[in-house]
Amino acid sequence: MTIIKLPEPIKRGGMPLYETLTNRKSCRKIATQDLSMEELSNILWCAYGYNREGRRTAPSSHNSQEFDLYVAIEKGTYLYNPEDHSLELKFDEDLRAWCGLQDFVASAPLTIIFVANRDKIKGKDERGVTETIYVDTGFISQNIYLYCASESLANVVRAMIDKEALSKKLHLSDNQEITLAHTIGRFPPRE
Ligand SMILES: Cc1cc2nc3c(=O)[nH]c(=O)nc-3n(C[C@H](O)[C@H](O)[C@H](O)COP(=O)(O)O)c2cc1C
Repeated sequence: MTIIKLPEPIKRGGMPLYETLTNRKSCRKIATQDLSMEELSNILWCAYGYNREGRRTAPSSHNSQEFDLYVAIEKGTYLYNPEDHSLELKFDEDLRAWCGLQDFVASAPLTIIFVANRDKIKGKDERGVTETIYVDTGFISQNIYLYCASESLANVVRAMIDKEALSKKLHLSDNQEITLAHTIGRFPPRE
């Protein structure tokens, strides 16, 4: 099993909140340049890391913490492990082109795929589970938007995905559902 230990995330500083909110936006023009490991570490921690004993940076219904974050980069596809803030190699394959139906997705350096484990939502009917996982996705995604606004990175959350095809590529089981994916990179140089 190949594990990449991520650098410690930086939990201080950043842009003041009101400026960050002023800068938050979606951008589909994303440079192909790789992000650094430090940036990847910070993005994942902001998205869904632990910020207290057993609790995350994003809320979840009844603290269900039902998401796995799959990380698609050029050198492979990884699963984020928040416990030791590491990445586990799942597929030694560049799956970025499978992560969305828009051209920029394949060449952007990073897509994070939000995969819900529906079995972790207890006491709700099918519709309730679906509502819950989409609401919970929004918080994770907004954390990424805010990090990117604070660090001047280009990013967009996306629903336009061939979810069936991507689920197969990720070998997901029936209880696992892709909700959205979030694509991140640098702004291209100004022309
Ligand atoms: C649930 C959801 C699904 C989205 N799906 C896509 C998508 O598939 N492709 C895309 O380019 N943008 C997608 N977006 C981004 C929206 O188009 C974008 O947030 C909206 O146009 C407002 O722009 P802003 O984020 O810059 O304020 C999605 C946003 C949300 C919240």
